[in-house]
Amino acid sequence: MTSYSLRNASPAKSRADAVVVGVVTGSSGPAIAPGGQDVAKAYGRKLGPLLSALGVTGKSGETVKVPTSGAISSPMLVLVGLGNDPDHLAVRRAAGNAARSVTNAASVAVALPADTPELVRAATEGYALGSYSFTTYKASGPSKSPGEVVVLSPVARKKDAIAAFEEGKVIAGAVARTRDFVNTPPNDLRPPGFADAIAEIVKERGRGGKVTIQVLDETQLAELGCGGLLGVGSASDAPPRLVTLTYTPKGAKRHLALVGKGITFDSGGLSIKPAASMHEMKSDMAGAAAVVNATFAIADLGLPVQVTTYAALAENMLGGSAMRPGDVITIHGGTTVEVLNTDAEGRLVLADALVMATEQKPDAILDVATLTGAMVVALGDKISGVMGGDDVVADVLSASATAGEDFWPMPIPEQMSERIHTTKIADLSQHDWIRWGGGLFAAAFLREFTAGLPWAHLDIAGPSFNSGGPAGHVSSGGTGVAVSTLVEFARAFADDK
Ligand code: BES
Ligand code: MN
Ligand code: ZN
Repeated sequence: MTSYSLRNASPAKSRADAVVVGVVTGSSGPAIAPGGQDVAKAYGRKLGPLLSALGVTGKSGETVKVPTSGAISSPMLVLVGLGNDPDHLAVRRAAGNAARSVTNAASVAVALPADTPELVRAATEGYALGSYSFTTYKASGPSKSPGEVVVLSPVARKKDAIAAFEEGKVIAGAVARTRDFVNTPPNDLRPPGFADAIAEIVKERGRGGKVTIQVLDETQLAELGCGGLLGVGSASDAPPRLVTLTYTPKGAKRHLALVGKGITFDSGGLSIKPAASMHEMKSDMAGAAAVVNATFAIADLGLPVQVTTYAALAENMLGGSAMRPGDVITIHGGTTVEVLNTDAEGRLVLADALVMATEQKPDAILDVATLTGAMVVALGDKISGVMGGDDVVADVLSASATAGEDFWPMPIPEQMSERIHTTKIADLSQHDWIRWGGGLFAAAFLREFTAGLPWAHLDIAGPSFNSGGPAGHVSSGGTGVAVSTLVEFARAFADDK
């Protein structure tokens, strides 16, 4: 485990094994960014020729390691590109890149721009997230991460900087645990095991962890009439679970409900998926992992807002007891749904959980789901879609901007509401065969289960899993997207009377 500390000290005098310094692309060539001036001073006139000989430009994504040969106290200097006029997002990205380039240091000093709380948080979060790796199944074991990371900042003793530093650590921890859940192979994370793992976290946190848990098993779900979860999970020998977390701080004035899609594997069911990328459907529980870990982070930060979180867990498989296209199922609360495509399973498990959430009469509901390929077609794989009531959507967008996660508002056209009512034999159609706007159809379907409460739906199908290489603070595989946005939403929601 790496320990992080925040200090006001000179990077040139730091005895850490490596010192990370930023480089900006100045108008007159690359220049050392604020935070690293002492290092620039120590090199003096030798710095310019050194940067030029190394081909350092300061472009974002660039990392160059230099042996210092005594020029500064640390034996190694890591130069990371910040681009032109870096903001906190550039600092987070650069810190992440730096973390990945430092492969064998016991201690690291991070001397990136960090003279505001926002930048302190970015440097901390970026470094912690960039050093994330998932090696549980590798014979080589965990990759070597430093025992100590010191974030250097001129405002290190200021209260708000210390709070931002703590926040960065809490968010990074919650994001990393989300990534772990998503990366865990689907044979080792099935609904009962996922529920147990969440219960284990609650137990480890203890009473001071301020979060309590309730797990409903398949018998209890049947008693409650949760036909969505039971239908989707019917062909799996690992039955569905509904996990509820509650965080009820004293003095909370508002109540937020979070709902997450937790399909531990989505084969598509009888409407089976093509083979090529089916393995990535282990990530179809990323919404559940995000809402669960965001809840722990909200509790860790002590945000004064009541949170109730529902993780709807099921495995979508094939077999003799599988749900069929043509089946009519009954969602908790009594709404009947004609199933037309068993691969549109997320909306069914979310429907049960959304109705459960409405019964608590929260002030707002956010659901998070890897819901539709259509959203990935619309927005690409780096931007999530958000749909719902105008006010809640606006608040999600503002939270996501603070969190540095890309969300884009999408409409729920009136026409979609009509299309979910075209079934001849049930209350609602789960699907129709017009593909266009599939992500919007899904949102219209979910809205039916929100009882008119303030609500937004976050479709993270694209950004939740990075099939490519790591970049900045984003690892490959599970990304942990939405955790940070949910925490920022909760923070603003608590303040907003
Ligand atoms: N889990 C998928 C959506 C998905 C696709 C997530 C790609 C991540 C990456 C979802 O359950 C699904 O299969 N959706 C179908 C819906 C369709 C049948 C209406 C889809 O998007 O194709
Ligand atoms: Mn599916
Ligand atoms: Zn799915």
